[in-house]
This record gives sequence, C-alpha cells and structure tokens, in this order.
Amino acid sequence: MQNIVIFGKGGIGKSTIAASLSTVYALQKKKVLHVGCDPKHDSTVGLVDGKLIETFLEKHARVFGVRDHGELKAEDLLVKGRLGIDCAEAGGPEPGVGCAGRGISLMLEAFQDLGVLKSGGYDVAVFDVLGDVVCGGFAAPLRKGLAEKIVIVVSEELMALYAANNIAKSVRTYASNGVYLAGLVANLKDGKVDRKKLQRFAKLIGTRILEYLPRDPAVREAEFARNRTVVERSPKSAFAKSIRSLAAKILAVRKEDCPVPTPMDDRRFYGAW
Ligand SMILES: Nc1ncnc2c1ncn2[C@@H]1O[C@H](COP(=O)(O)OP(=O)(O)OP(=O)(O)O)[C@@H](O)[C@H]1O
Ligand SMILES: [Mg+2]
Repeated sequence: MQNIVIFGKGGIGKSTIAASLSTVYALQKKKVLHVGCDPKHDSTVGLVDGKLIETFLEKHARVFGVRDHGELKAEDLLVKGRLGIDCAEAGGPEPGVGCAGRGISLMLEAFQDLGVLKSGGYDVAVFDVLGDVVCGGFAAPLRKGLAEKIVIVVSEELMALYAANNIAKSVRTYASNGVYLAGLVANLKDGKVDRKKLQRFAKLIGTRILEYLPRDPAVREAEFARNRTVVERSPKSAFAKSIRSLAAKILAVRKEDCPVPTPMDDRRFYGAW
C-alpha cells in the first residue's frame, strides 16, 4: 500500500490535485482511500457527487457522545464515493473557535485505533493536508507514521516556495518515521513563466519537480459542476493528461531515491533569489 500526502500553501491546488489523483488510481481499478485533512472539508466533493460528507468531527460529536469508542467500526468513519473510493474529511471548528489541527489529529488517532488503513485493503491512500500553518496538527499525518510519500504542490510564486520550504522542514523532522519527500508538483499560474527559479528551489532543498501542471479552464468548469473531478469530467483535457502522468510518477518514486530534504532557514531562503 502507498500512502501519499499532498501538502502545499493555501489555495495552491492541493484538493484539485489530490482528488484527481484518487480518481486516476480508482480508474486503474486500485482500491483508494481519500482523506481530506482540512477544516474546509471540500477535498472529497468531486468524489461523492458534489456532496459535502459528514466530517469526522461532526461524527465525533454525534456518535462518540452516545456510543463507546470501542463499538465503532472502521466503516463508520468512511463514506463510499464514486468509483468505489472510500472518503473521509477531518472537518474543523467554526472559524475563530478552537484548533483546526486538533480535528486532524483526532481523526488520525481514530484511524489508527480502528485499523482503518489496515482493514480497508487499500492500494493507495491519498491525504490532502493544509500546509501553510506551522501548527503541529497539520503535521499529524507525518508524526503518527501514517504518511509515507510527501508531495508538495508549489507555483512560481515566492510564498508558495516559502510554504514548501517550511513543509520540507516538517518532513526532515519526521524522516525517522519513514516519511520522505517524493518531490514537488508545479501547478503553474503562468504557463510561460521561466522555470529556472523553481528548478533551483527544488535543487536547494534536495528534491525534484515531478510534474508541471497547466492552468486549464477544465479545472474551473469541473469545480463549478462539482459532481466529478476534472479527470472524470474532461479526461482529454491538458490537466487530466498531466495528472495521469503525475500519478504514475508518484507511484514509481522509491524511498531510496529520496534523500532527507535540506530546507533553508528563513534568511537563507529570502537571500536565495
Ligand atoms: N491547474 C489549474 N487550472 C485551473 N484552475 C486551477 C488549477 N489548479 C487549481 N485551480 C483552481 O484554484 C483554486 C484552488 O484550488 P484548490 O481548492 O484545489 O486549492 P487548495 O490548495 O486545496 O486550497 P486550500 O488550501 O484552500 O484547501 C480552485 O478554484 C481551483 O479550481
Ligand atoms: Mg483544499
């Protein structure tokens, strides 16, 4: 089984890419678990016919209050989505109240207690994790040994690289848990941008760029339609083609080819350009 964790700055394209990858793997007849680790709980929308599923925290409040934790089964935490994809969303507190990372930590603890990853017979698990927050909750998949392959989504913008550098620090911190940085995905805002800075950044932090994804209106159209990911809705689009290529590359990356990343301290990061 492969555990793939998609990290990246807010709004960079994590959920679009993560849900598209899950779709590609499911279309290849792989058994897929897709986990949204973001209070916005929108990662699985395109995988469950446009519905916002009940989040783990909502379920926690509804079920855990009346039932003994031990009576819960792994299936209770999952919703069956399109193409047989098992879906979960951590959810989070109302904005401004409480800690968003806590929902993620709680959900992953329940996953471990109930053996969700082991009992599901999954070929691939895709985690979509909010990544520009330094809060430990967002590193929960790394800390709890659930994560394996980390993929960081970046764009050509400096702040996207700043977030990626921070995420690489978390990967370095938890490398002893078996976590490794498989590479970066460049979700470009401007397809014509000079790619040298991105390549330089990848080299500086000791990783590679797995794929360049094009800006594609098909992504927006699928997002408004909500009921399917762009890969299912527009399989011939440039974005879907690049995602299929990315999906194969992620599976092919081997741990031994991924050295512990070498992120920069903030001064070096800002001085690097
Ligand atoms: N390659 C692309 N082409 C066109 N639109 C894109 C592309 N990638 C992402 N988008 C659009 O950018 C917006 C942000 O994408 P998405 O929600 O996937 O980002 P995210 O990283 O998950 O954000 P958040 O951190 O808020 O969860 C969406 O409206 C999405 O449709
Ligand atoms: Mg998202």
